[in-house]
Amino acid sequence: MRNAAITGWGMYVPEQILTNAELEQMVETSDEWIVSRTGIRERRLAAPADTTLAMSARASRQAIEVAGIDPSEIDLIVLATVTPDKFMPSTASLLQTELGAHRAAAFDLAAACSGFVYALAVGSQFIQTGVHKTVLVVGTDALTRFIDFTDRGTCILFGDGSGAVVLQASDAEEGVLSNVLGSDGRGAQHLYIDGFDSNGLYGRTISSNGNGTGNAAVDELQRTYMKMNGNEVYRFSVRVMGETAIEAVNRAGLRLGDIDWLIPHQANLRIIDAAAKRLDLPRDRVWVNLDRYGNTSAASVPICLAEAAESGKIQPGMNLVLVAFGAGLSWASSVVRWGATGVRGKGTERDG
Ligand code: UT7
Repeated sequence: MRNAAITGWGMYVPEQILTNAELEQMVETSDEWIVSRTGIRERRLAAPADTTLAMSARASRQAIEVAGIDPSEIDLIVLATVTPDKFMPSTASLLQTELGAHRAAAFDLAAACSGFVYALAVGSQFIQTGVHKTVLVVGTDALTRFIDFTDRGTCILFGDGSGAVVLQASDAEEGVLSNVLGSDGRGAQHLYIDGFDSNGLYGRTISSNGNGTGNAAVDELQRTYMKMNGNEVYRFSVRVMGETAIEAVNRAGLRLGDIDWLIPHQANLRIIDAAAKRLDLPRDRVWVNLDRYGNTSAASVPICLAEAAESGKIQPGMNLVLVAFGAGLSWASSVVRWGATGVRGKGTERDG
């Protein structure tokens, strides 16, 4: 079996920053509460031009450049998102054209904040089984478009962005070593955004007399917003992050002491700290950027990965644990061995 090595990485976050101080003007909250309960200081908001496609294209172009490949070499694009620009076609198909990846198969994958790690598992399988040689894996979300900015339970947490990696077939001992995917639909009601109803109407409909008949002729259309039971999601995430990360380490045939870096989903610093403790990793071996970006959903793990790779702190031979959780409720983890091919491209050029 061939290995699926990460040979390129890229990220994009929108320009507009929303600080905790600005949120203090919008809802009853404080910078002190947000920082102490979540670790978040600011987040990025997608401008109208920052569509899921546009953000994905920017992150993907970087990843392609770092990998030093031509877009025509890409066999498959897997784009993880729960905020696609259209219901059809997939944003991955639009991205294919945008990038000029004419040979690629393309599809979207929805697993909320676990989406990128799910997509990495899917992409790496196609390489390991010999079906494909080069796969672009993207995680992009613009969840702030579905946030009720009068709901302090959710509006402080989320930001927008995109991250991407190029996976390539390799015979070296590197790449995705293991995957763990999970879902428990019994927890679906704890974190959701309503979609179209059976009449094809977006969001929840309420009739003028408040009966909610779903009849388009008499009903008024409401915006659809994210709903979350933060405490339930918190309890679930603290348990599942550590458990699934350890399972991925076991499946890779490694021990906890073999792990060099934790690249976790950026939801809450307290959740990340709990996972790090389970893995026995000190804070300086855990990539954290939620202070700057908040929770970017499917983009959070690949944005961390891109930053970590660019920092030069990840060296060939190091073992990384990627772990995420989210709506579903869902969870996913992968162990990745950073390879020599993962330092070519941009980093190598910069280092001369
Ligand atoms: O990718 C997955 C996405 N979702 C998540 O990751 C969510 C996971 N959950 C969490 O991160 C945390 O549960 C939150 C950050 C959402 C909430 O933190 P918490 O420590 O669980 O707070 P809490 O909900 O138990 O609320 C504690 C208090 C309450 O006041 P009382 O009842 O003690 O007087 C809340 O009303 O804090 C209040 N509160 C706030 N105060 C100021 C809740 N939200 C805020 C706020 N600012 N934004």
